[in-house]
Amino acid sequence: MLNKKMRSAALMTRFETVFQCPLCAREMKVVSPQSLVCPNDHTFDLAKQGYVNVATHSSSGKYDKDLFEARKALAESGFFEPLCEMLSGQIKDGLPLDKKGAKILDAGCGEGSHLIRITEKLKPSFGSRLFGAGIDLSKAGVLAAARRDAELVWLVADLAKAPFQSGTFDVILNILSPSNYEEFTRLLSDEGAVIKVIPKSGYLKELREAFYDEPEKRAYSNQLTVDRFSAHFDVAKRRELSYRSVLDRRQLAQLIRMTPLSWRTDEERIKSYLMKKKAATMSVNLDILIGRKKAK
Ligand SMILES: C[S@@+](CC[C@H](N)C(=O)[O-])C[C@H]1O[C@@H](n2cnc3c(N)ncnc32)[C@H](O)[C@@H]1O
Ligand SMILES: [Zn+2]
Repeated sequence: MLNKKMRSAALMTRFETVFQCPLCAREMKVVSPQSLVCPNDHTFDLAKQGYVNVATHSSSGKYDKDLFEARKALAESGFFEPLCEMLSGQIKDGLPLDKKGAKILDAGCGEGSHLIRITEKLKPSFGSRLFGAGIDLSKAGVLAAARRDAELVWLVADLAKAPFQSGTFDVILNILSPSNYEEFTRLLSDEGAVIKVIPKSGYLKELREAFYDEPEKRAYSNQLTVDRFSAHFDVAKRRELSYRSVLDRRQLAQLIRMTPLSWRTDEERIKSYLMKKKAATMSVNLDILIGRKKAK
């Protein structure tokens, strides 16, 4: 049985032509004993868990191990399953199955749950012709992802400087994460699609109402984000996804720990909210924007 690092190195070797040095933009090769190396000798070693850190700076400390553990536990309880089902369906619909393969990037993958679940769902259609890569600036997130999965490529990287060749990806997923649209345009194949998931006004509204008193913090509009996306891509489709999920107290605590909504709320308020609740219904309300490159 190969260890994680060797399995990742084998996978990266199979798809070696996709990588690009984030420092000098030259091609990279997988070189023994398991490093990504460019012709200028910029060298990035695989960690024993199978991921590679190519970031030139680190992320802000807010996205830490606790947050990703909570996010992973909530994902495992099925909280994001309708989202993954919808996204895999959209990917399948948008890609011709006779294509030689499908390459998918999750830009801002966090602890990897969504990419793992979505590619599981796509496997029956694409099998080993599917290449999936997750990048995130948080090492804690990528480490958690790589621990769970050795069939996808995981990199600690800035999505503004992704370590891949231009035109590599058929699909770029960008789920509840920041974007860099110039970089996404560079990375996307001419027929490719960017799938951006953003909150709509009802997203976790129950938490916003419990945590914030100010009306401007309780209300949320994604219009600016939609406008910015439309300025860079032709919006081929826009779908709304809405569902409600009943969470028990343990899951509520996980939700609160995993969401940036709690960053601006004091601990006492969070504690007293949790004490009062045995269970609560939470609304998920998302916009899914599917963009194609604009004609030049
Ligand atoms: C709200 S989390 C969403 C994570 C994941 N997509 C999910 O839905 O569970 C936002 C993520 O964006 C990542 N992020 C922020 N800035 C980034 C950057 N410049 N490059 C890569 N990832 C970044 C954070 O580390 C964090 O994991
Ligand atoms: Zn280089």
